[in-house]
Amino acid sequence: MESLESVVSRALAEFVSTQDAAELERVKAQYLGKQGRLTELLKGLGQLAPEARREAGARINEAKDRIEAALAARRGEIANAALEARLAEEAIDVTLPGRGRGRGSIHPIIRTWQRIEEIFGSIGFDVADGPEIETDWHNFTALNQPEDHPARSMHDTFYVEGHDSTGKPLLLRTHTSPMQVRYARMHKPPIKVIAPGRTYRVDSDATHSPMFHQVEGLWIDEDISFADLKGVYTDFLRRFFETDDLQVRFRPSFFPFTEPSAEIDMMFASGPLKGRWLEISGSGEVHPQVVRNYGLDPERYIGFAFGSGLERLTMLRYGIGDLRLFYDGDLRFLRQFA
Ligand code: DAH
Repeated sequence: MESLESVVSRALAEFVSTQDAAELERVKAQYLGKQGRLTELLKGLGQLAPEARREAGARINEAKDRIEAALAARRGEIANAALEARLAEEAIDVTLPGRGRGRGSIHPIIRTWQRIEEIFGSIGFDVADGPEIETDWHNFTALNQPEDHPARSMHDTFYVEGHDSTGKPLLLRTHTSPMQVRYARMHKPPIKVIAPGRTYRVDSDATHSPMFHQVEGLWIDEDISFADLKGVYTDFLRRFFETDDLQVRFRPSFFPFTEPSAEIDMMFASGPLKGRWLEISGSGEVHPQVVRNYGLDPERYIGFAFGSGLERLTMLRYGIGDLRLFYDGDLRFLRQFA
């Protein structure tokens, strides 16, 4: 029969070579189970004489203790290894640099918007905001735009679902000029306001976007002349472009809501755009019919208005050649203004 000592050392060796808890329990059964080696040996004790039985019993129990101790130790090892493996698998590499939070910045158009508010605010202009969904009356009729004017066609204007109280379709405002009417009808002269905001036209290329920005300016009182327009707008341009080294000219033009009307052009005396006349804004003395539509008497009140594109001002200020860059959301472009 196999010696007790070799049973113990075989058990210990087999425990050590097990790789997981299930295998260990299987090996354990071979030694300590109902039909295990040690159990068999204990059963055999009955055949021995009492003296020998006590002595053999003690040795077998001692062997059983060693086996059980080895079993407990291996159980511990296997449990530890399993825990280690799980920790390794679920480990978070805290040494990886974090993704961080992208830091946003003000969009160049909004920067222009804010500068305009600041400059006009400093010379006493109020800032007004108004609806982007407009009525036909505010956007066209009140501004003296005839029924058959091409700007009113579907090719130029986005019409939206819904009608105003007269049954005319609602539209996305094609310019900020309706704000002249809205503001003037709610305030008493002197009226001195700018209204920056989003505007919409069916138009899309390198210099036109279906959504773009304008700022409307309006100064109405008893004696606001074209000379005031020249002074205010020239002052604005010098402050906006941070140079006195620019020329401004007022070129005769036509708008239904002004009389006389002028395009405002400017020319830098230095820099990459030096020496070229650049069209920057529409303007004029408000047409008497429009003053009447403000609810004011055109015999008494007179003043100027202008409407300038924020994209255009921004492109000239930063030397940007393609307006679509403003709306691509490309961070390489936008970060340059951060
Ligand atoms: N509303 C005109 C446009 O979008 C721009 C404009 C021209 C506005 C002359 C004015 C003005 O206030 O006086 O083309």
